[in-house]
Amino acid sequence: MRFPKNFFWGGATAANQLEGAWNVDGRGPSVDDHFTGGGYGKPREITIDIKPDVLYPNHDGVDFYHRYEEDIALFAEMGFTMFRMSIAWSRIFPQGDDAAPNEAGLAFYDRVFECCRAHGIEPLVTLSHYEMPYHLVELYNGWESRELIGLFERYCATVFERYQDKVRYWLTFNEINCGTSRMGALFETSMIRGYEGPGSKVVVTPQQCYQALHHQFVASARVVRLAHERYPQFKMGNMDCFILSYAATCDPVDVLATQQEMNRMNWYCSDVQVRGRYPFYAKRYWAEHGIELDVRPGDLEDIAAGTVDFYTLSYYMSATVGTHGDHEQTAGNMSFGGKNPYLESTDWGWQIDPTGLRIALNEIYARYEIPLMVVENGLGAFDEVEEDGAIHDPYRIAYLESHVRAMGEAVADGVDLIGYTWWGPIDLVSAGTGEMRKRYGFIHVDKYDDGTGTYERRRKDSFYAYQRIIATNGACLDG
Ligand code: BG6
Repeated sequence: MRFPKNFFWGGATAANQLEGAWNVDGRGPSVDDHFTGGGYGKPREITIDIKPDVLYPNHDGVDFYHRYEEDIALFAEMGFTMFRMSIAWSRIFPQGDDAAPNEAGLAFYDRVFECCRAHGIEPLVTLSHYEMPYHLVELYNGWESRELIGLFERYCATVFERYQDKVRYWLTFNEINCGTSRMGALFETSMIRGYEGPGSKVVVTPQQCYQALHHQFVASARVVRLAHERYPQFKMGNMDCFILSYAATCDPVDVLATQQEMNRMNWYCSDVQVRGRYPFYAKRYWAEHGIELDVRPGDLEDIAAGTVDFYTLSYYMSATVGTHGDHEQTAGNMSFGGKNPYLESTDWGWQIDPTGLRIALNEIYARYEIPLMVVENGLGAFDEVEEDGAIHDPYRIAYLESHVRAMGEAVADGVDLIGYTWWGPIDLVSAGTGEMRKRYGFIHVDKYDDGTGTYERRRKDSFYAYQRIIATNGACLDG
């Protein structure tokens, strides 16, 4: 394995799944604070009021808010050179439309970034990772409203100015392309007005999803342009949930359906954010799905002027697309596809496909030819703590090594890959299910689904495996 000399190795997290302290130091409630716990096959529910007898797993997260120094020291011990995290918008603007930012929230991230820098770790900051102040959901139904553009710009301008000397790498929206599907749109765009769990009658229409995405594209482009104009040291990236689709058969009809699925899921958003324009196939897609976008004067110019510097993706699985008979579906969190008989699946039904990562990186690089980063990749699994406190997780090590090998091959193919941040280097609350027992970490956190636990941190075997990979820049996997 020959990764570039300054390749970034690290881990990725999101504020709402990690920090806890949901109502501390002036933070306002975020949309995720209204999500209950769920499970495999049991969707999370949303409650309009916070009910005292219901457990909301994001309220406490894994208490990074109070333990960030210990956690970042552990990341440094593994050898991290990058830490992907997000800022909770409601820590900065508790209601989203407040007259002034919350100084205690700003000061918290000052401390976190300073701690990273003291350990030689470069922060990679997501501005919006599946959350917004709940007040904006009540007022505007999230990104359905154009009002969000200005509010988001103000929030971004505030954190850019404050952290200009501490943060260089930024991503605008996490997995923005999940907004193209109904399930993903609930997380991505916060259009949850009236949604009260699985039995809910509320339906998010394609019209709403694509209009909300348009607002996000404009917002993203405007803040990218602002960053480029005012802070030349910044590098701005997009972030897509890349689900590689294979045709289930070689029937050209399946191949065409697969191409169309790739256009919707993988290219629609990144074409806008990387190329600065809607793709050529968009018009027909909108027409066939009854979508009529409200595009205001200046929107397309904004989109053209705010293209990103690097492309980032999450990669967990691949799927198949088939048109013949009953095509068995896979599990996922925001996106689902067909089963592939050649692949194994995780305990949560996600299909494991390291070769698909090499294919994906080649496809993306061929299309855009800008630097790439894999900013999420990981395995959610059950872990057992032995009597002596050890946690043996060979399944996670195998997943990690196979995906690092695949990236090494992509680099050898000529792809300009500049970093890798494993999802959930420390156990955290699952976004899709709200569970703790779906663990991704190299670091175990003593916290359980019923809300009990001491929050003690423990190194798993995979902690040392990743440490070896980083120390050798991947070379320990040679041969
Ligand atoms: C990605 C999200 O979709 O997958 C993360 O960006 C999420 O927030 C990760 O946690 C893993 O999914 P889950 O549902 O297992 O937490």
